[in-house]
Formats: sequence, structure tokens, C-alpha cells
Amino acid sequence: MADEPVSQNIVRAEGRVDALARRRLFGHPARTVWFTGLSGSGKSTLAFAVEEALVARGVACYVLDGDNIRFGLNRDLGFSPEDRAENIRRIGEVCRLFHDAGLVVLTAFISPYRADRAQVRELHPEGGFTEIFVDTPLEVCEARDVKGLYAKARAGEIPEFSGISAPYEAPEDPEARVDTTKPLDDCVAEIIHHLGL
Ligand code: ADX
Repeated sequence: MADEPVSQNIVRAEGRVDALARRRLFGHPARTVWFTGLSGSGKSTLAFAVEEALVARGVACYVLDGDNIRFGLNRDLGFSPEDRAENIRRIGEVCRLFHDAGLVVLTAFISPYRADRAQVRELHPEGGFTEIFVDTPLEVCEARDVKGLYAKARAGEIPEFSGISAPYEAPEDPEARVDTTKPLDDCVAEIIHHLGL
């Protein structure tokens, strides 16, 4: 995907509502909270639980979930490295828009490549992007196998499966790390505390 727009003769339009006005409107800063980890690590469960807890505190937030987005916006994408990069690139742009709108967005994508995650971080101002590594070992994800996908991947029925036949590059320096062997409520409380929202 080209970095520069394909279109020519386009000019940026400037709105009249700035970040401070939006912060006053919502009563909190904008933030992108990026959960990364293997399939079955607990990203979606965590993101939805954090969303519920934040909404209860009056925080305007929304979850972008990998499987869900692949039913709509990214239904044209598969799991090759190129398609995963495009998946994350588009979501990164959506996060940038949410951030600009003053909202808190929580994402649940495997996002296995460091470079793709770094690119999303780059789209945000300093402090606007929080990467949370859902650090559940492959053995645990595979033992859970909530969707039955690991069994299929081992049987060779799903090619390029993250952790089995495709890479997962763990974050080297995430803002936070979650140990999902702890009870869900404890993980959620830790994350909320960390976010300070
Ligand atoms: S990502 O790698 O591009 O970030 P994403 O989070 O959107 O992946 O989608 C991952 C989900 O798609 C998994 O949780 C699983 O349900 C499903 N899936 C289907 N095929 C694969 C595959 N080959 N590798 C990983 N996940 C897959």
C-alpha cells in the first residue's frame, strides 16, 4: 500500500472543534488501547470487559474486534502477511479517526507483526496509544481452543495460523502486560488502573 494517496488534487479540510473542546465534551482524554496476543489469548474478552467497566464510569469508548471487523470493513482480507498488514493499517486509520473524535477505542487484533503495530502507534500523538500484551502462552491458548481453530490448524486445515504456521512477534516494550491466568475482574481492574481514565 502506497504511503501517499493515489488521488491528486486533494486538499485537507480543517474542522473548528479542537482536541481540548472534545476533551471537555467527553470529560476525558482520547486514547487508543491496543490489545495484542495470540488467538484465544483473551483479547476480546478483556476488551469487552474493560469497555463495560469504562462505560460504567462515564467514558465514551468502543471495541474494534478482529473477527467482527473481518465480517464488514475488512471482509476482503485474509491472513497472508500482506493482508494482515492491510488489516492493521486500516484499523490504525480508524483508531486515528476515533482518537481525533475524542473517544477511547479498545482494539482486539492478533496484530502479529511488530512493524504493523509500530505504524499504528506512529499515527497517534505521544501518550495517545497504549499497547497491552495479552501474554497467554501458546500452550494455554491451544488447550482452551475456544473456537476449535487450533485443532483445525494442527490438522493442516487452516494455513498460516498464528503461533502454529505463521509468526507472532511479541511486543518488546508494551505499556502493559496481562496475565490471563488471573481472574478476569483482576485483569480488568489492573488495566483500568493503568489507563487512569
Ligand atoms: S490479524 O493477524 O490480522 O490481526 P485478526 O485479529 O484480524 O488477525 O483475526 C484473527 C481471528 O481470525 C482469530 O481470532 C481467529 O478467530 C480467526 N482466524 C481465522 N484464520 C486465522 C489464521 N490463519 N490465523 C489467525 N487467526 C485466524
